[in-house]
Amino acid sequence: MKIYVKISVLSFAFWGLLVPAHAGDMVKGKAIFDRLCFHCHKPSYDEKFAPGLAGITERRDMKWLHSFLQNPSKMIKHDEYAQNLKESNTYNLTMPTLPEMQDEQAREDVIAYLGTLK
Ligand code: HEC
Repeated sequence: MKIYVKISVLSFAFWGLLVPAHAGDMVKGKAIFDRLCFHCHKPSYDEKFAPGLAGITERRDMKWLHSFLQNPSKMIKHDEYAQNLKESNTYNLTMPTLPEMQDEQAREDVIAYLGTLK
């Protein structure tokens, strides 16, 4: 029992070192995507009611992704890429400002998942 406790404390400390506090969790990110994003976005290159999100972490950097997920309407006003995206969208939908995306860790998680879409 004592040994077991020691091992679990040690492995916890080990993972703590490997995984930085803000690293995105792609499993949680997939759950967020399936619940909040899948209505409009496909996890591939194909459009649904919005652009397919495969390859997005190569097209856009982390800073842009955080800003856009947190406040898309502000980005559509001030960022040229976001503006073009809005103008080329033929479905008459707008990327919504989602309460869940105000949380930095939730954005990290969903971005980590988006990074797996190739
Ligand atoms: C109601 C539909 C809808 C939902 C729900 C939605 N989006 Fe969007 N999203 C859009 C639209 C439409 C665009 C294109 C920009 C515009 O016209 O507003 C977009 C654009 C994007 C882009 C930029 C795509 C590119 O090719 O540059 C990203 C990244 C994105 N959304 C991520 C997400 C994530 C992550 C979620 C879930 C947390 C989500 N979206 C939920 C409609 C939606």
